[in-house]
Amino acid sequence: MEHVFETHAHYDDEWFEEDRDALLVQFPGQGIEKVVNIAASLASIPTTIALAEQYDYIYAAVGVHPSETKELTEENFSLVREMAQHPKAVAVGEIGLDYYWDETERSVQKYWFERQIELARELKKPLVIHSRDAAKDTMDMMKALHTEEIGGVIHCFSNSVEMAKEYVNMGFYIGVGGVVTFKNARVLKEVVQAIPLERIVLETDSPYLAPVPYRGKRNCSLYLPYVVTAISELKQVSEEEVVQVTNKNAHQLYRLEGEWLN
Ligand code: NI
Repeated sequence: MEHVFETHAHYDDEWFEEDRDALLVQFPGQGIEKVVNIAASLASIPTTIALAEQYDYIYAAVGVHPSETKELTEENFSLVREMAQHPKAVAVGEIGLDYYWDETERSVQKYWFERQIELARELKKPLVIHSRDAAKDTMDMMKALHTEEIGGVIHCFSNSVEMAKEYVNMGFYIGVGGVVTFKNARVLKEVVQAIPLERIVLETDSPYLAPVPYRGKRNCSLYLPYVVTAISELKQVSEEEVVQVTNKNAHQLYRLEGEWLN
């Protein structure tokens, strides 16, 4: 496969410590055209930007994951704002609400979710949304804050068909990864069938959520063809069409339109 656009990975993770560069240099030759590396904590913002500076096909999303928001202060948030203006920072994320890991108070998560949404609005960059066990609160906040004016992606989508359609109506893309290859992922398969291919983007969330047959192992973008195959079967279109359409979607999502299929 060629022209695969990986919209969500964490290659600065320590799991890649030993072979990071050896892995990343293979991507252009293996059909991975572009990668957006997603920051998730204060510490991962500079490491994400460093990867984007080192590789021309890697871009950065700058933001703080809901479970890490307890480390944010006014002072370090001004650094986040600064780093989010890096020329290769294409989005604000991953940000949102996570009630699965209850280590950060919900009120703290909500406060910094709103602040980071407002940062994206100010910088005119799309949102990379993380929502886990917090579907209603995430949607309520996104509606109240008029995020349909900002746009972005709901990463690793794991909610109902109805909610997927609602996000699509708000102009958001739906991130689909390795989970779609799992036998028990009935609802996600229904989501993929229910929404237009024009609203789906490919992601791995590497090093997590490897597709079958690598389930449970370290994930990487080279496994995206398994996700492409699963989507092509669910949508009854060719793998080539899945790659081409999701590539175009990802360029529009991250506002790299001028570079589509260059
Ligand atoms: Ni992630």
